[in-house]
Amino acid sequence: MTDTQFIPDSDKFGKQVDAVNNGEFTWESPSNIALVKYWGKKKDQIPENPSISFTLSNCKTITTLRFSKKNDMAFSFDVFLDGKKQDDFKPKIETFFKRIEPYLPFLRNFHFTIDTRNTFPHSSGIASSASGMSALALCLMGVEKKLNPDIVTGYFNKKASFLARLGSGSACRSIEGDLVVWGKHELIDESSDLYGVKYPYKVHDNFKNFQDTILLVDKGQKQVSSTVGHNLMHNHPFAEQRFKQAHSNLERLMPVLESGDLMAFVELVESEALTLHAMMMTSNPYFILMKPNTLEIINKIWAFRKETSLPIGFTLDAGANVHILYPGKDSEKILEFIKNELVVYCENAHYICDEIGFGAKQL
Ligand code: DP6
Repeated sequence: MTDTQFIPDSDKFGKQVDAVNNGEFTWESPSNIALVKYWGKKKDQIPENPSISFTLSNCKTITTLRFSKKNDMAFSFDVFLDGKKQDDFKPKIETFFKRIEPYLPFLRNFHFTIDTRNTFPHSSGIASSASGMSALALCLMGVEKKLNPDIVTGYFNKKASFLARLGSGSACRSIEGDLVVWGKHELIDESSDLYGVKYPYKVHDNFKNFQDTILLVDKGQKQVSSTVGHNLMHNHPFAEQRFKQAHSNLERLMPVLESGDLMAFVELVESEALTLHAMMMTSNPYFILMKPNTLEIINKIWAFRKETSLPIGFTLDAGANVHILYPGKDSEKILEFIKNELVVYCENAHYICDEIGFGAKQL
C-alpha cells in the first residue's frame, strides 16, 4: 500500500476550499506506552521494525484548532500552550506542515490557531509528542472532513494516524486503542509502516484493565532527543539483530496476549525495555539514560515479584522514568507497595496513575 491513497482529489479541491471560510475543532488524544519498542527509523518516518503499544487513558493532550481563510500562500499559524503563546514550538510545527502538505493541500489557505494543553505536567519527563502530534493530526483531519464530508470514519482514523506519524512516529499509535501495532509484521494482517492499526486478534481479559503507574524519577528535559536516539541506530553494530528481534518479540507476544500468561508478558516487556537502553549504551556516542533510582526501582520490583508472585513488571521509554505495568485486579496490593517502597525514589515523590485507554475523542 502506498501513500497516494492519502492525497485528496485535486479536481474537487478548489470548490471545496471556496465553500469553507472558518471553523474550529477540538480533540483529546492520549499518550501510549510501547511494549515492543520502535527504535530506529528510515527516511520519511518509516520505522525499522514493528512496535506495539498500550494506549493510555489519563495522560493526554487536548488541542483546539481554529482556522480562518486568508489570501496569501504562506504557512500561517500561532501556537499556545496552556493559553500562553509558544513560539518555540513553531519550527517543529512548520516542519510538520511541510511534511504533510502533499496530503493536506489546504494548509496554506487558512490561518491556524493551535491551542493546546496536556493533562500531565510539562516538566514531568513524559514526552508529549505522541499525544500532541496525534491531537493536532486529528484536528487537521477535522478540517479535511469539513471540506470533504464524504470521508468515512475508517479513512479518517487511518489518515489521522498516517499524518501523526509524520509528526512523531509513536504518535500514530495514539488514535485508536487499546492495543496498537505500527510497522509491517508478516503475521499481523493489515499492519503497515505508514500508520498504526488496532491489534486485530484476540486479547485475554487479563489485559483488559491494565494499569500503568508512571514513576517520575527524573522530570528534567530529555538527555537525548528521540530524533538523535533513532539516528544512533544507523551504523549501530547490533542494529540488524535488534530489528529482527523486535519482529520475533512481537510474534512471541501474540500467544501471550491470547492466553493471558502474565508472567510471560512481564518477561518479554521488561526485556524489550532493557534492550532499548542497551542499544543506547552501545551506540556511538553512547548514553546511559537510566538514573540510580531507576535501578533501585527495578530491583525492588523484582524482589517484590519474587516474594509475592504478583504479575508486576516495568517498561521504560528513552529516559529514566519507570512505567509499572500490572493487571487492575492486583491494584490494591501493588499500589500499596508502590506508595510504601517506590515513591521515595521519585523526584518530589511524584507519580502518575494511568491505565489502558481506548484512543482519541472529539470534544
Ligand atoms: C523509546 O516517536 O518520540 O518511546 O519519530 O523521532 O518523534 P520520533 O520518535 P518518538 O520515539 C519513541 C521511542 C520510544 C519507543 C516507542 O514509543 O516505541
